[in-house]
Amino acid sequence: MSLPRRITWLTAAWLSALAVTAQAKAPEGQALAQAAGIPWPAVIAHRGASFDAPESTQASYLLARELGADYLEMDLQRTRDGQLIALHDTNLGRTTDVATKFPEQKDQPVSQFTLAQLKTLDAGSWFNKAYPDRARSAYAGLKILTLDEIIDLADQDPAHRPGLYIETKAPLLFPGIEKDLTAKLIQRGWLTADGHVAPQHRVVLQTFEKSSLTLLNQFMPKVPKVLLLWVGEGSIEPTSKVAYDPASGETKAAYYARQTPRDHAEFERWLDFAKANGAIGTGPSAALTQGGDQSYMDLVQPWMNQMTHAKGLLVHVYTVDDPVDYQKVMDAGVDGIFTNRSSELLKFYHRPASRSVDDILKANGY
Ligand code: G3P
Ligand code: CA
Repeated sequence: MSLPRRITWLTAAWLSALAVTAQAKAPEGQALAQAAGIPWPAVIAHRGASFDAPESTQASYLLARELGADYLEMDLQRTRDGQLIALHDTNLGRTTDVATKFPEQKDQPVSQFTLAQLKTLDAGSWFNKAYPDRARSAYAGLKILTLDEIIDLADQDPAHRPGLYIETKAPLLFPGIEKDLTAKLIQRGWLTADGHVAPQHRVVLQTFEKSSLTLLNQFMPKVPKVLLLWVGEGSIEPTSKVAYDPASGETKAAYYARQTPRDHAEFERWLDFAKANGAIGTGPSAALTQGGDQSYMDLVQPWMNQMTHAKGLLVHVYTVDDPVDYQKVMDAGVDGIFTNRSSELLKFYHRPASRSVDDILKANGY
């Protein structure tokens, strides 16, 4: 073997040893999570355990809590009389019987209803119709919940103390909601008077809106925050600006999967904004193997996660339910997953719940 070739061989051996050492090393995000006091990898129950129970209801959050999810995820909105509630859509049509109870107001935003009006709505029966194989008669009549009620649920069981992962949903419709949220978390003892998360609790704040992140950081500088990522108008600039055409026959999931950030620099600009405005991480979307209505752009490509980690930011990807995709996104380097199926993700992370979904629901009267 000639000397240069031998040097090449030795270099290769050294590099391979380095690679083994690197593999044995804890993932980069794990140390970042530890420093931020965030479980790694994190199980974030998206609208509760919303595969198995109607989203954002007592059944869904209680199930997620009892399964052992790290966080109860919610979309925060505000009623006409100033109450903070959890609901994903900006109107009530998909998940309630608003069309029957308030036909004239059926398309109006949540902000046009008082809490008393919202509490008359049935937020469970739609699930039984949409998913007959998962239907339970006790889901009929479930109510929209206030943030206070979700805090009660999170506080109730000493054996399971999930954190809250709170999104300011459409925050431009609710001026001042960041301040209201701060006041509520302090009032409920989840934040100390000097703005830290209270020792026995976990909170992460999340938003797609840059301006809301800035306000969250202004009012709650010491609370972990995540900037949610999306490609499109008002978000990360796409490579192509061709809008989705339903007449094309392409599914929305396939269209989204084709959307990519204009270039690396554009993606990096969003990371830099997140970092400069107090975020400890980002919440990128994922393209799912099976498609479906929660399959979006692939914003967890390895280079993206590496760039995010290099800036000292964590990656919590939304919304993944299938073990094939859990593996894919973990291999790509994410630090936690928003999931509708906490039971499955906990199994995947080798933290299976001690009771089945059915046992928990039955034990709680569902
Ligand atoms: O908050 C993360 C994820 O929930 C964002 O998507 O539309 O379900 O709120 P969405
Ligand atoms: Ca959300």
